[in-house]
Amino acid sequence: MTDPSGEKADARALLSLRNINMTFGGVKALKNVSFDVMPGEVHCLAGENGSGKSTLIKIITGVYRPASGAVIDYDGQTYSHMSPVTAQNGGIQVIWQDLALFPEMTVAENIAFQTLLGRWPRFVNYGRMRETAIRALKRLGVTLDVDLPLKEFPIAQRQIVAIARALVGEAKIVFMDEPTASLTQSETDHLLDIVRTLSASGVAVVFVSHRLAEVLEISSRLTVLRDGGLVGVYSTEGMTQSRITELMTGRTFDQHVRAQPKDANPVVLEVKNLTRPGQFEDVSFTVRRGETLGITGLLGAGRTELALSLFGMLKPHSGEVVLDGKPVRFSTNREAIEAGVAYLSEDRLSLGLIQPQSIADNLVIASLDGIRTNGLLSDERKRQLVAQWVADLGVKIGKQSDAISTLSGAISSASQSPNGWRPIRNF
Ligand SMILES: Nc1ncnc2c1ncn2[C@@H]1O[C@H](COP(=O)(O)OP(=O)(O)OP(=O)(O)O)[C@@H](O)[C@H]1O
Ligand SMILES: [Mg+2]
Repeated sequence: MTDPSGEKADARALLSLRNINMTFGGVKALKNVSFDVMPGEVHCLAGENGSGKSTLIKIITGVYRPASGAVIDYDGQTYSHMSPVTAQNGGIQVIWQDLALFPEMTVAENIAFQTLLGRWPRFVNYGRMRETAIRALKRLGVTLDVDLPLKEFPIAQRQIVAIARALVGEAKIVFMDEPTASLTQSETDHLLDIVRTLSASGVAVVFVSHRLAEVLEISSRLTVLRDGGLVGVYSTEGMTQSRITELMTGRTFDQHVRAQPKDANPVVLEVKNLTRPGQFEDVSFTVRRGETLGITGLLGAGRTELALSLFGMLKPHSGEVVLDGKPVRFSTNREAIEAGVAYLSEDRLSLGLIQPQSIADNLVIASLDGIRTNGLLSDERKRQLVAQWVADLGVKIGKQSDAISTLSGAISSASQSPNGWRPIRNF
């Protein structure tokens, strides 16, 4: 098979894409990209935010249709585009950035519902569903109570449920879009073991991660995208993190730059003996202007509760918080925002953003005072403020009025498809 650019697909590849182009409004998300995956390999897809990684995965899984001229060779067949049904029936599975699971349903239902619904006779066989789920988890070397609702499990185990679901669908290739983003180190190690198990059993894994150490640890080959274009395909042997960063950004970095000490700067925040029994106790620290302070600890150690207490969303039982030299005691987050405290939640997709609303509205929602004139919100001031932040942060957007979910790193579900989404099975 030859594509218009004359480049040949690799005959040994399980999946081979050529001439992939995709445009959203004014944004060119993919420009003439090629991509090959060998059977059973672990292949990493790397690139900065917005470089087109998730879009490429959505093209392979049939969520998006690429521009005409695309050639997709998969498992001996050639396609100009995929459909979700073709991809799924052919053994292409995805663990989306947001996992796309059902928190209210049991583990067994989450893992096995796709295989059991929509078949004749249309009764759900719960016994078979449980068995299928337990078998899939066993392949991963994991035991979970499959009768409990998924919402009772932490994110790391939900991830395993999503992988088990992929295995039920007889996967030949599994795409994992930033699977380790919210995992701790030991959970990540366990996930990487699972990836190795999958690969050893002949399943190819395409792994997207911004953590370059684990990219080097887990994958044998690496495809780098920059700004929607293909930079190249590399063996990870002999590759270094700084080289990958250079390939991703197109810039070289001085690894020897050290943070300047901020000891001379004034103290902005002082926390003294802050306590909320059962969550955190006797916490004291100071933060100076320009400083970045890391707060670390195991899951459940009280980090989030501490942060929420400083943001007025939880009340500390005792202790003192001094902001810019003045003691403060916030009873609401509104008071904290007015005093100049901002909070980014750990679950940004569901708590930090209002998904159906526009990029502009999401950006200004915590600072409406800044765009008010004569007591009314000014569309013009909003437009200027948003334009300034988008430029300062280098975010690629179509229009300010586009839904926030159109930005990279946002929800990955098929409901965002510009082609219109159809359920995989009707039931
Ligand atoms: N449905 C959509 N509508 C409009 N623009 C979109 C849509 N999906 C993606 N884009 C744009 O296409 C570009 C590539 O996005 P993509 O999600 O593929 O990036 P990514 O490499 O996965 O980034 P990240 O690492 O942040 O997840 C971005 O500029 C994004 O804003
Ligand atoms: Mg992405």
